[in-house]
Amino acid sequence: MSPLNDPIAATTGRWWEHAVVYQVYPRSFADGDGDGVGDLVGITDRLPYLRDLGVDAVWLSPFYRSPQHDHGYDVADYHDVDPLFGELADADAMLARAHELGLKMIVDLVPNHTSDEHRWFQAALAAGPGSPERARYLFREGRGPGGDEPPNNWASVFGGAAWTRVEEADGTPGQWYLHLFDSTQPDLDWRNPEVGDMFVEVLRFWLDRGVDGFRVDVAHGLVKEESLRDQVLAEGEVPDSESVNSAATASMVERTLRDEPMWDQPEVHDVYRRWHEVLADYDGDRMTVAEAWTQTPDSMADFVRPDEMSQAFNFAFLLAPWDASAFAEVVTGSMDAVGRVGALPTWVLSNHDVVRHVTRYGGGALGLDRARAATLAMLALPGSAYVYQGEELGLEQVDVAPEHRQDPSWFRTGEVGRDGCRVPVPWSGAAPPYGFGPADGQPWLPQPDDWAGLTVEAQLGDPGSTLTFYQAALAARREHARDLPDAVEAGADGDVLRVRRGDLLVVLNCGDTAVDLPAGEVLVSSGPLDGVLPPATTAWLRV
Ligand code: GLC
Repeated sequence: MSPLNDPIAATTGRWWEHAVVYQVYPRSFADGDGDGVGDLVGITDRLPYLRDLGVDAVWLSPFYRSPQHDHGYDVADYHDVDPLFGELADADAMLARAHELGLKMIVDLVPNHTSDEHRWFQAALAAGPGSPERARYLFREGRGPGGDEPPNNWASVFGGAAWTRVEEADGTPGQWYLHLFDSTQPDLDWRNPEVGDMFVEVLRFWLDRGVDGFRVDVAHGLVKEESLRDQVLAEGEVPDSESVNSAATASMVERTLRDEPMWDQPEVHDVYRRWHEVLADYDGDRMTVAEAWTQTPDSMADFVRPDEMSQAFNFAFLLAPWDASAFAEVVTGSMDAVGRVGALPTWVLSNHDVVRHVTRYGGGALGLDRARAATLAMLALPGSAYVYQGEELGLEQVDVAPEHRQDPSWFRTGEVGRDGCRVPVPWSGAAPPYGFGPADGQPWLPQPDDWAGLTVEAQLGDPGSTLTFYQAALAARREHARDLPDAVEAGADGDVLRVRRGDLLVVLNCGDTAVDLPAGEVLVSSGPLDGVLPPATTAWLRV
């Protein structure tokens, strides 16, 4: 076992510190108006389900006005709701209903880039080179004869070059603009003070409406190295903007860091120091959580220094292989990293960008057993846990047929993309749309024909269902884990992960054979025990 880690952080009672946050992907949660796409009215109607599930807060992926090229992560107006999802009054009603039910509401903020339909980008196109309008984005001249080559070698996270050339007003090929994602998502220039001021207004707009926090998209990407120099590539390495989080690898200390002039620049932290001050003007412990795929646990922890953000997603747990030592190392490494800056960790296994964890762990019955086991181990850990819609139903990644795929990365690379974790939630009934919306509305992504047994309706009250397991696990967390000390001791005993927190011992069997259960009172388990700890099973024991 590793030595007991000693986080400087003490729980201070802020609501988010140990919260379980449920991620809603609005397109795919519940369709109130029958157009095949989820909406705010649909979400509002289902909030009691989330209260009954036992989560503390809801994080909503973007619902702002957007041409939807990246399903809302391309925002055209930060101050309005897209008509697809409703209108501002629906957002207000949703917030009010959440608060009435005792749920906090976190909204997504997308500050790295706007949509190309944002009025600023349209003005930049119209104004031409050298204008203050272009200076809000990263427009540059091309390289090579005629400026025909992109300004540097950076690649888009979604594939292809990170630069697109515009046509100037006179019809000639002109400057290039940077987009770390799709060409419809031009990156803002955060070295321009106008950009920072605009986002403070956006923060205040939503804080004034009563949101409890912000999930900050691409939080490590806002500021680029000023020269916009080429990324230095190791021999054989291809340009790739996809930032990596290596914390899950066994050699996390020795890993050679990649040259990433597009990510994690020191100046990005000034942005969050400013936002910290903005949030501090409001009552109710408003919070921020960073989506920052940084390269090390320490660089992740820098985002949660006391004067910056409240939380950062810790993707290390999600990236860890099915291996007791790897899990133990991630737990200890994450606790140490955030402990150094006096913060608490977060944990997550699935979201709208990654393959669902049932499928990552092998799919089928084994994948589901492992997913439940990993979830139960996660829920014992100090700090905050994030769950993604549908994981409480044990949903698997769906193999979406090519003609239905919508992820921009599919169009740019021809690789499968993220649609498979975004298929609309099955609520009831025996056939699509499974109560996702009115029976005649076809969901925007087709649902599998064999989901009848996975609906909320089918699982509620069934003692063996994954939904019942999640309810029990979340109740056990409230009752037995969330008030325990924040320090944990994690280690691997052969194939078994052992995590000790106060008088709670968590054992997760990553091996292929049953092992003896340690002595102690079993509080909850991810599957049947029969006196032993079967493979792919977690148990919590009071010792
Ligand atoms: C984040 C989001 C992802 C989106 C990207 C660009 O990684 O989670 O869904 O495509 O940012 O905004």
